[in-house]
Order: sequence, then C-alpha cells, then structure tokens
Amino acid sequence: MNRVYVWSLPTRVFHWLLVFSIVAAYLTSEEDEWLSIHAAFGITVGALVLYRILWGIVGPIHSRWRDFDLSLASLKEYLLTVFSPKRTYVGHNPAASYAMIGIIAVTLLLAVTGLLTYGIQENRGIFAFLHNSFFREMELFEELHEALATLLYLLIGAHVGGVLLDRLLHAEHGTLGSIVNGYKNLEGYGVSLTLFQKLFALVGIGLSIFALLYVLGVRDNPITASHHAAVDYEKEHPLFVNECASCHVLYPPSLLPEHSWRRMMADLENHFGDDASLDPADTQSILEYLVANAAEHSSSEASVKILKSLPNQDIIAVTQTPFWKRTHREIAPEVFDHEKVKSKANCKACHGDIERGLIEDTAIKMPQTRS
Ligand code: HEC
Ligand code: HEC
Repeated sequence: MNRVYVWSLPTRVFHWLLVFSIVAAYLTSEEDEWLSIHAAFGITVGALVLYRILWGIVGPIHSRWRDFDLSLASLKEYLLTVFSPKRTYVGHNPAASYAMIGIIAVTLLLAVTGLLTYGIQENRGIFAFLHNSFFREMELFEELHEALATLLYLLIGAHVGGVLLDRLLHAEHGTLGSIVNGYKNLEGYGVSLTLFQKLFALVGIGLSIFALLYVLGVRDNPITASHHAAVDYEKEHPLFVNECASCHVLYPPSLLPEHSWRRMMADLENHFGDDASLDPADTQSILEYLVANAAEHSSSEASVKILKSLPNQDIIAVTQTPFWKRTHREIAPEVFDHEKVKSKANCKACHGDIERGLIEDTAIKMPQTRS
C-alpha cells in the first residue's frame, strides 16, 4: 500500500488552531460579558486566515492555491462520479477546494466585519474612529457579521459532511486521519518543507497565538480598548446627582429619550409611588440637563438600541423599554429579588460603571446570588 505525506505539520497545526478558535468564538458569541474574549478569538481567526492565505502562495504542494482544482469541468465530473471515481485527488478534490476557498474567504470577511462592528457599535478597537460617523448603522454591521457566521457554519457543515462521506465511501484512502497524521494512502507527490517555509510557518502561526494571548491577557490593549469616556455627573450637574441619586442609582440621561424625561419631570409628585417633587427652578434645570443629554444625543449602543426599540410609547422607566427587557430576559426573576440586587432598577448591582455614564460589556458582573 502506498502512503503519501500530504499535509505538512504547519498545515495541520493551522487547521486545528482554526477549528479551536472558531469554536471558542462561537461559544463566546452569545453573552455580552464575553464580548472581549469573543473578540480575542476573532482576531486570532483573522490572523490565522491571513497567514493561511500567504501560506497558499509560499507554502508546499497541495496547500498552494494553484494546486486547488477549481475548474467547473472537474467539479462536475467529481460530483457525478462520487460513488465510482475516475481519479483520486491527493490534495483537495474539486468540491473540497471550493469549500476551502469559501471557508477562508468567509472567515476573513467575518474577522473584518467583526472588527468593524466592534469599532462602530462598541467604540472599541482599531476601528473605533468610525464610531462617531457610523453609530447609527451599528445594527447593519452586526447583522452582516451574523449572516456571515451562518454562512460559515453552512460551509463547515459541507466540509465535515464531505469528509464523512469520503470516510464511508473510501475509508481506505485515510482522508479523515490525514488531517491528524498528515498521510493519505494514495499514490502521489509527498510534501517536504524548505527552511524558508518552516520559518514562515513558525512566524505566522506564532504571531497568531501571540495575538490571542496578548488580547486575552493585556487589559485595555489597543485591539480591544474602549474609547467611551466616563462622565463625572457630580462635576457636570451636582444638583442632578443630589436630587436624582438620593433614592436610587443615578440613571444616565442617555438611557431615555427626551419625551420620557419631559413626561417624568412634569409629574415628580407621583414618581413611581414616591413624591420626588422639587422647586420649579431646580426641576427646570435638571430637565434641561436630562434633555440635552438624552438618548437622541448619545452614540452609545444602549441609547441607539433603546431609541430604536421604542415605538412612540410613553415609557418613563428604562426597565420598561423593549430593549432592556430583551437584553435581560435570560436573567431569572429571583436574581432581581435577591437581597444583593433588590430591584431590576438597581442597575449598579450588575453594572458597576453605570453611574459614570458607561455600560461596558467588560464591566458586567452578576452578583453571587447562590450561596
Ligand atoms: C424620593 C425618592 C426618589 C427620588 C428623589 C427620585 N426617584 Fe426616581 N424612582 C424612585 C423609585 C421608588 C423608583 C422605582 C424604582 C424601582 O422600580 O425599583 C424610581 C424610578 C426611577 C426611574 C425608572 C427606573 C427603571 O425602572 O428603569 C427613573 C429613570 C428615575 N427614577 C429617575 C429619577 C430622576 C431623574 C430623579 C430626579 C429628578 C429621580 N428619579 C428622583 C424614587 C425616587
Ligand atoms: C441582575 C443583574 C443586572 C441588573 C440589575 C441590570 N442588568 Fe443590565 N445587564 C445584565 C447582564 C448580565 C447583561 C448582559 C446580557 C447579555 O448577555 O446580553 C446586561 C446588559 C445590559 C445592557 C446591554 C449592554 C450591551 O452593551 O449590549 C444594557 C444597556 C443594560 N444592561 C442596562 C441596564 C440598566 C439601565 C439597568 C438598570 C435599570 C440594568 N441593566 C440592570 C445584568 C443586569
């Protein structure tokens, strides 16, 4: 039986690092608290794919782009004769070549749209400079990123499906095992790496791993640091802090639209069951401050999404906005009732930075409510 060395060590290491990073990015994509970890794995995926694109130019036979058979005639022949193939492929067969190129292209676009979303929506990272101009479009970039992720899962499904089908039909070729040990049981040209290729792989893969450790390990690094500035309310409007943070958390004005603040300030005697009334001059001064800094005047994710979620309702509580309900729907009611939280409206219990006008994903911390 013939054995041929098809996938060199760098190609296999790249493959498994990419699998690991994509799975990690997928697993950390749902919760806002994990966004910076998600971003770290996303950046690693991007670095790995850039390395792989170059490896396809300078790398060895079977891994080079020009060894990918992309002719439609070959693809057609391959698909029509899957069950009784006319020829064997030592490297990628035509269908797999398309899947590989699709996966590389979509993954690269995912990394780019991820960085753009991160910059535009979160005001973080290397594209944060786009935040002020494009924050109104934040959901567009988020949706684009999510659509690409769905496409990637489909391509990965096709890739894994193809490998498993091959395993059923041609187990003797050892294709499945080749991505672990490098060998297929076929006849053809084997791989051997030049010194340059070995060094290139070492640097490329090494930099990708370094990127992961750096972004995960170094706080406020340029790749993930936030550019939102904290607000010192005490300095900006002491009266507002005195009057509006005496009974509860200081709610940043940017969390409600102008008309909600007007409505609330017009009826402070009946303020959620309390009398919070002030003399007219103070009421007017606070109202002006609230309106000037209302959601309409903020580029933060919370403000944009709260505004979008409000269909002309007379809501005056942040916790009543559809956006707030949606973001917190997975938190059990017992958590809000717990003595460390007491109320949904006690934002500070979980958002330690809210009274500085920030609601950063990295600052979300659920209190220990289970003893
Ligand atoms: C006398 C006490 C008191 C004062 C003073 C007071 N509030 Fe309140 N406020 C309350 C109570 C009680 C609630 C209901 C809290 C809850 O649901 O747990 C509330 C709720 C709110 C909410 C809605 C929170 C949510 O559920 O999203 C906002 C916004 C708010 N207050 C703003 C203000 C502003 C602005 C001022 C200053 C003009 C102010 N409050 C002054 C007692 C007060
Ligand atoms: C019991 C803890 C808890 C309380 C209390 C709480 N939150 Fe949250 N909040 C969370 C968690 C957890 C998330 C992340 C949800 C997710 O994974 O998407 C979150 C997410 C958010 C987000 C979205 C952040 C983003 O970048 O997407 C905003 C805005 C927010 N909270 C505002 C508030 C406000 C305003 C209050 C008070 C009126 C509040 N929260 C009260 C736990 C809490």
